[in-house]
This record gives sequence, structure tokens and C-alpha cells, in this order.
Amino acid sequence: MRSRFVLGAVVVAFASGVGCSKTALTPIATVEQIMETTVEPVSFKVFDAAVWENGVQIGGPETDEDWKMIEANAVMLAETGNLLLMGSQMKDQTGWVTRTQAMMDAANEAAKAAAAKNTDAVFKAGAKIYEACTGCHQQYINPLTVQPRAGAN
Ligand code: HEC
Repeated sequence: MRSRFVLGAVVVAFASGVGCSKTALTPIATVEQIMETTVEPVSFKVFDAAVWENGVQIGGPETDEDWKMIEANAVMLAETGNLLLMGSQMKDQTGWVTRTQAMMDAANEAAKAAAAKNTDAVFKAGAKIYEACTGCHQQYINPLTVQPRAGAN
């Protein structure tokens, strides 16, 4: 009898822990704040890794540490997708998910390219990231009410 009671108590504790809204993920920042503080700066670190002027690459990564930081920023951009998919942040269950996933996939591709120190591949992945930004903005930002800065149009 006693061992049964203990088992029951453990099951109840586990179930209430899972269902408890205090431990569930609740968004804190607005989408605008996530864009400004995270999505924009980390994506620009990735874009800046592959820039050419008159056929000469400028400001590209040189040291192992430089590459490591590009990879880390790309990974963080992908991670930001998880924030955009958190409950009430989602504008819908369809396009918002697809658009976010496209950004995450492109960011993961950039991370792999940075891990391989492949500038061309970082550039290609960067173009896909940019497409994901603009695609979502075109679908979800009303141009009459919000004027996003760089990367938005
Ligand atoms: C899943 C959709 C989605 C994706 C993907 C997305 N954005 Fe956004 N972004 C938004 C929405 C929605 C807003 C408008 C937020 C608001 O002002 O309420 C916004 C706003 C912005 C803003 C303006 C913030 C401000 O000051 O109002 C910037 C800058 C921005 N995004 C950059 C980016 C960049 C760079 C990327 C790609 C790396 C990106 N976004 C990808 C949905 C997205």
C-alpha cells in the first residue's frame, strides 16, 4: 500500500509540473524587440562575413575566432526562430511557421558554412536568410503602419 501511494504521488507531481503554466514558456519581449536586439544584429554579423567591393572582399573573417563568432551568430539567428515560434508571438499557425522555419534553415546553413570556413557558402546562405526576412515582412508587416529599417525591404 505504501509503495503504491508513493508512486501515485510521484506521478501527480510530474503531471502537475508539466501542466503548470509557471514553468511553460511565456514570451516576454515583443516581436519588434526581438527583431531589433537579436534578429537584426546577429543576421548582420553573418551578412558582413561575405561582402565584396569591386571584387575585393572587405571585412571578412580572418582568424579561427572570427569564424567561430560567425558560426555562433548564425546559430543564434536560428535559435531566435524558436522565440518567434513561442505561443502568442505567432501571428498564425501557417505562414508564420513556414517563414520562421525558412529563416532557421538558412541560418543553420550559414552556421555549417562558417564551420567549414567557406565564404561562398556563407554568402549563399546569407542570401537565403535575407529572402526569409523580406518574405516574412512582406506577408506580415503593414507598410502603412510600420517602417522596418535595413533588411526589411
Ligand atoms: C517570421 C516572420 C519574420 C521574420 C522571419 C523576420 N521578421 Fe523582422 N519583423 C517581423 C515583424 C512582424 C515585424 C514588425 C514588428 C512590429 O513592429 O510589431 C518585423 C520588424 C523588423 C524590424 C523593425 C523593427 C522595428 O524597429 O520596428 C527589423 C529591423 C527586422 N524586422 C529585421 C529582420 C531581419 C534582418 C530578418 C531576417 C534575418 C527578419 N527581420 C526576419 C517579422 C519577421
